[in-house]
Amino acid sequence: GKVGVLLGGRSAEREVSLMSGQGVLAALRSKGIDAHAFDPAERSLAELAAEQFDRVFIALHGRFGEDGTLQGALELLGIPYTGSGVMASSIAMDKVMTKRIWLSHDLPTPRFLVLDADTPNNVLDDVPEELGLPLMLKAPHEGSTIGISKVVTSAEMHAGFALCAKYDSVVLAEEFISGREITVPVLGTGRTARALPIVEIRAPQGNYDYEHKYFSDDTEYLCPAPFDAATTLRLQDIAVRAYNAVGCSGWARVDLMLRAGDDAPFLLEVNTSPGMTGHSLVPMAGKAAGMSYEDLCVDILQSARL
Ligand code: DAL
Ligand code: MG
Repeated sequence: GKVGVLLGGRSAEREVSLMSGQGVLAALRSKGIDAHAFDPAERSLAELAAEQFDRVFIALHGRFGEDGTLQGALELLGIPYTGSGVMASSIAMDKVMTKRIWLSHDLPTPRFLVLDADTPNNVLDDVPEELGLPLMLKAPHEGSTIGISKVVTSAEMHAGFALCAKYDSVVLAEEFISGREITVPVLGTGRTARALPIVEIRAPQGNYDYEHKYFSDDTEYLCPAPFDAATTLRLQDIAVRAYNAVGCSGWARVDLMLRAGDDAPFLLEVNTSPGMTGHSLVPMAGKAAGMSYEDLCVDILQSARL
């Protein structure tokens, strides 16, 4: 049947989504699938309905694509779609809600505070007493590190906070976990959820930001990450539990830090519509598991449901 690849959209991650979507579109077509691009930023939901897609592959990132709103529209239109449903998508798009869910499941995540975007600077200056320094400031509803700062000084804190406050009505202040950065893609749903090989990210100065994610080649990726078998299984198990706690389905990517010294894992976030660009990590892990980019796209498409 006819497949829609939803790409672009109107979030801050539009540019990334166009790269993901073009990759997915070409992959599905190379497998003989009748796939068509559809950009919901340029066309209406009525046009989406009129296309009569049998199912859609969601290659949108961020708001109005990854956050449950589009998933709700697809439910109403009766079009099966890839990835998580309405509730898991909206929880995962909110880093604060995700952390609360994980804490309620006794899963480890860095300590945090949630601050109103209008918090005055003198109150911000007390935050390090709770969380230490450096600390992370994050806009809870953005992806691709947009709006994220690691801050040490009071001036950095004020500037980083102002940046987050541009994106969201609340700001997440989070304890910084110094150590190794890893990500674990998960495929499947519920009992069938399974982790792909772990990817370790070694960015220059630990700065895996937007530029390093999509454009620069000076980040080193280790996949499978160099852990012994028992550690690999333990980390993959935590990732699958984190995925299931949020209620994810189809596929997602769980990001973690391993604390320097004891390698204790701390869950940062789950991405329910992970990047599928040439620089992206789910395709890298798929390859390490013997799955080509094309096979991975077909596998994800086959999990589309209502
Ligand atoms: N938000 C980006 C696309 C990712 O998680 O891969
Ligand atoms: Mg993210």
